[in-house]
Amino acid sequence: MKLYQRFLDGIPWYLARHYWWAYLWPRSVWFFDHQPIINAILFGQYRKLMDTTIERLKEAPLERVLQLTCVYGSLTPSLIRQISTPLHITDAAMIQLELARSKSTGTSELLPTRMNAESLGYKQDVFTTTVLFFLLHEMPAEARRNTLSEAMRTLAPGGTLLITEYGPLPTGHWLYRFLPFRWLLTTLEPFLDGFWHDNLPALLNEMASLHGKSVCQSWNSTIFSGFYRVSEFKLSSTPQNEAG
Ligand SMILES: C[S@@+](CC[C@H](N)C(=O)[O-])C[C@H]1O[C@@H](n2cnc3c(N)ncnc32)[C@H](O)[C@@H]1O
Repeated sequence: MKLYQRFLDGIPWYLARHYWWAYLWPRSVWFFDHQPIINAILFGQYRKLMDTTIERLKEAPLERVLQLTCVYGSLTPSLIRQISTPLHITDAAMIQLELARSKSTGTSELLPTRMNAESLGYKQDVFTTTVLFFLLHEMPAEARRNTLSEAMRTLAPGGTLLITEYGPLPTGHWLYRFLPFRWLLTTLEPFLDGFWHDNLPALLNEMASLHGKSVCQSWNSTIFSGFYRVSEFKLSSTPQNEAG
């Protein structure tokens, strides 16, 4: 049995195989959940990325908010502080959900559920805002498509999708041009190159159309010279005669 297979218990294969050392191994969960470590991984941009996401959240409809998968650091408690209803959070890894729960003070402010983001158990159109923070680049193309399809299905027309992520292929960025670094990053993040080449607005629209909806990018902020981005998308329902 390979080491990663010990982590497969209900976990998507790519997560166990490529990220057991980051999200599933108790020692690494302890290690990575320190502000200086996360900040170093994001080249000192963590605070800016989180603050920009939270600033945008303030403009979003906050009746029912989903954080689609857990993250290290203080994003979850910051989201909780912004909304007056419980924050829904879902993740495939129990250890991550427990960590998220340990960061919430009240029992009714967080509604954690263990699910695969590719096939959520939520009803359609239930959320008014969904937040994806550095999830998509860690997924193989098919899982990314499935997850975005589920995000589009569960988000109500009029709702907001906030995506904080790597930017599009950063060919001009010094980090990308420095080959040893690019090799290291794409070795640690084996699906990042696929994500870099995705046209996110087009992909979102393709997935939204499966559910009779469409999205438009309503706001975008580039961070660290375009290496990262915070993007806001608004969802609407497609009129019947346009829905193909
Ligand atoms: C949001 S991503 C990246 C977070 C980012 N590196 C950070 O901590 O700031 C990591 C989380 O996604 C979860 N995850 C990855 N694929 C998933 C899937 N298909 N379904 C549910 N959770 C998933 C992992 O268990 C992990 O908790």
